[in-house]
Amino acid sequence: MTDQRYHLIGVMGWPVMHSRSPLMHNYWFDQTGLPGKYVHLPLPSERLPDALRALPALNFAGCNLTIPHKLQAMEIVDEVDPVARKIGAISCVVVREDGSLWGTNNDWLGFLGNLKQSVPDWQAKTGPATVIGAGGGSRAICHALISEGVEEIRLVNRTAGKAEALVADIGGPITVLPWHARHDALNGTATVVNTTSLGMVGQPPLDLDLSALSPDAVVADIIYTPLETDLVTRAKARGNRAFGGLGMLLHQGPPAWKLWFNLNPMVTTELRNLMEASILGDA
Ligand code: ATR
Repeated sequence: MTDQRYHLIGVMGWPVMHSRSPLMHNYWFDQTGLPGKYVHLPLPSERLPDALRALPALNFAGCNLTIPHKLQAMEIVDEVDPVARKIGAISCVVVREDGSLWGTNNDWLGFLGNLKQSVPDWQAKTGPATVIGAGGGSRAICHALISEGVEEIRLVNRTAGKAEALVADIGGPITVLPWHARHDALNGTATVVNTTSLGMVGQPPLDLDLSALSPDAVVADIIYTPLETDLVTRAKARGNRAFGGLGMLLHQGPPAWKLWFNLNPMVTTELRNLMEASILGDA
C-alpha cells in the first residue's frame, strides 16, 4: 500500500471516547478492503476551527461531528449544504479535492434508512406523524418525514418556542402542540418518534400514554443507550412495530462513505450485532 492510499476519517467531539462510530467505520474498512482507519478525535470547542482546518494537511477524507461541535462547525467550513443549514447542524465534513471543507448532515438519511430497513412497508401517506421533542434530532427527523411526503406532523415539545423555531427553519406541514397534548396527539397517528433525551440511560422514561395509538402505528426512538427504551418496550408489548436508534447511527454511515470514498458499505446483521455487543458491554 502506498502512503497516499491510506484513508483517514474520525469523529470530533468532547467527550467522544464513548462513540461507537470507530467500531462501525473500521468494520467497513475491513469489509471493503479499503486501507484506512477511523479514529476518535477528542477536542474541546476552542480547538475545533484549527482541527477542522488541519484535516486536508493530515490527509483526512473528512470527519463526523458530535456534541458539542455540530453547530459551531457551520461557521468554520467553506460551504454548508442547504439541508444541513435547514437542520441547523453539520454531522459530516468532506474534504474536497482542492482542500476546501464541505459540511452536510446525514442524520435524516440515517433515520430513513433505519425506518425502511425496520419497517419495509412503511408509507408516508398512511397518516400523520407525531414527533416528540424539538432539538437537533427532531429537526433531522422532521426534515426526513417531510422529504418522504408525510402530510401532517404533530410536533410536541416542552418548550413551545423551540418547536416554533424548528417550524420556521424547516417549514412544511407541522403543527405545534403543547407538551400536555402529547397523549391525545397519538389518536390517528401512523408514526411516532421520540427525539427527546427522556428514556436515555440516566434519564427518566418518556411519560407517554399509548392507549390512543393504533396497533398499526410505527414507533421509533432515536435513543440507542439503552438499545431498547421503555417506550419501545411498551409499544412492542401492545403489538406495535417499534425500534430504537442504533439503526439510525448505522444508516448515516453509508451516505458518508458515498461522499468520502464513493463506496456503499452494507449495514449487515454482523455489524449490528457487533455494535449491540459493544453497547451492552458498557451496561
Ligand atoms: P438533540 O440535539 O440531541 O435533539 P437537544 O437539542 O438538547 O438534543 O434536545 C433535547 C430535547 O429533549 C428537547 O426537545 C428537550 O425539550 P426542551 O426543548 O423543552 O428543552 C427535550 N427534553 C429534555 N429533557 C426533557 C424533560 N425532562 N421533559 C421534556 N422534554 C425534555
